[in-house]
Amino acid sequence: MLSRRWWFVLAAIVLVIGVAAWYVRPDEAEPAPAVQQAAGPPMGWNSWNRFACDIDEQLVRGQADAMAESGMRDAGYTYVVVDDCWMAEERDADGKLQADPATFPSGMKALGDHIHAQGLKFGIYSSAGSRTCEGRPASRDHEEVDARTFAEWGVDFLKYDYCESKNADRPTGLPARDRYQRMSDALRATGRPIVLSVVEWGDEKPWEWAYDAGGTMWRTTRDIKPNWPNITGILDQQVGLERYARQGGWNDPDMLEVGNGLNEDENQFHMTMWCLLNAPLMAGNDLTAMDSVTSGALLNRGLLDVQRDFGQGQGRRLRQDGDTEVWVKGMSDGSVAVALLNRGTEATSVTTTVSEVGLPSAGSYRVLDLWNGEQPATSGPLGGDVAGHGVMALRVWPSR
Ligand code: GLA
Repeated sequence: MLSRRWWFVLAAIVLVIGVAAWYVRPDEAEPAPAVQQAAGPPMGWNSWNRFACDIDEQLVRGQADAMAESGMRDAGYTYVVVDDCWMAEERDADGKLQADPATFPSGMKALGDHIHAQGLKFGIYSSAGSRTCEGRPASRDHEEVDARTFAEWGVDFLKYDYCESKNADRPTGLPARDRYQRMSDALRATGRPIVLSVVEWGDEKPWEWAYDAGGTMWRTTRDIKPNWPNITGILDQQVGLERYARQGGWNDPDMLEVGNGLNEDENQFHMTMWCLLNAPLMAGNDLTAMDSVTSGALLNRGLLDVQRDFGQGQGRRLRQDGDTEVWVKGMSDGSVAVALLNRGTEATSVTTTVSEVGLPSAGSYRVLDLWNGEQPATSGPLGGDVAGHGVMALRVWPSR
């Protein structure tokens, strides 16, 4: 039997251990940030496609607010990118870029603060030449000072263009790769993580070097326009580039034109194909005035799941028969995303089979139409009627 004294000692030891355990308990979990951007191609909004040079701080703040309120932020659209024309015509007395005093009177730091306060990230634009495509000062031979300025402003993303001046679109003197390497070295030296978006338009095959030069994404084409021939032309230019995409290094077929005048079928086609390509998704429309077709396309969760999942690699074209095409992308859960395209103007039947799209043999397959919901299970055939300028987007799982 323990004496009272030993009982007292034992109680004291238990008390001390209890208090110590309370003090050294693991920190309570940090509250989750407003935005959880899974690893995947960058997503956000960019001012250029809809507004070009007609921008100011009120407009950008309004777009950031709309991104938070419309559900875009929570769906993964994170970066608010101010494209060309934010800068004053000349650098300041210290040689630094400065905001255009007429359109961004509060300055870029204040704009970044507003964007960050919405749980979003701040993107900005410059060019590897000495002037932007709109003739504003750009970063050629000012890489270090500009990178430091961007870091001071809280910039998280740099869209780095390839114009030399308003009239010449190629900087002379250094190969593109060296120009982008210089900027990525300068960004890295700031110590702030800043995503570098390489916008060399595909002329010098950036898919072969942009990742090694520090780019997270690289434009594969000249500028997108909100019309059918341009969008299908850009799609054609992606064929064969799939082997260059990787986790953290993405082919960029340019920003979205969803909501900028395409019809409903064309919007669905554009959104589907950019997701199947694991393309960065930079909305290019006015987020403060979205109709339900536009927001429904941009917020299509089933397609965003395809875009976020590198899976078995970027989607690729499997077959082309005149106006119809079959594209596929293997997903990491063993399902396959399939796009059945109709480039013609009249509805037509576009079909494939589970074996053609590479699914393993199974008794039946679940078929989810990513625009229209669940389809009956199939034993093999896939597809059906597809509208002119339209797409059928399916995700197909072998049943266990
Ligand atoms: C180039 C780019 C566009 C846009 C404009 C701005 O054309 O490719 O995306 O940034 O410059 O002047």
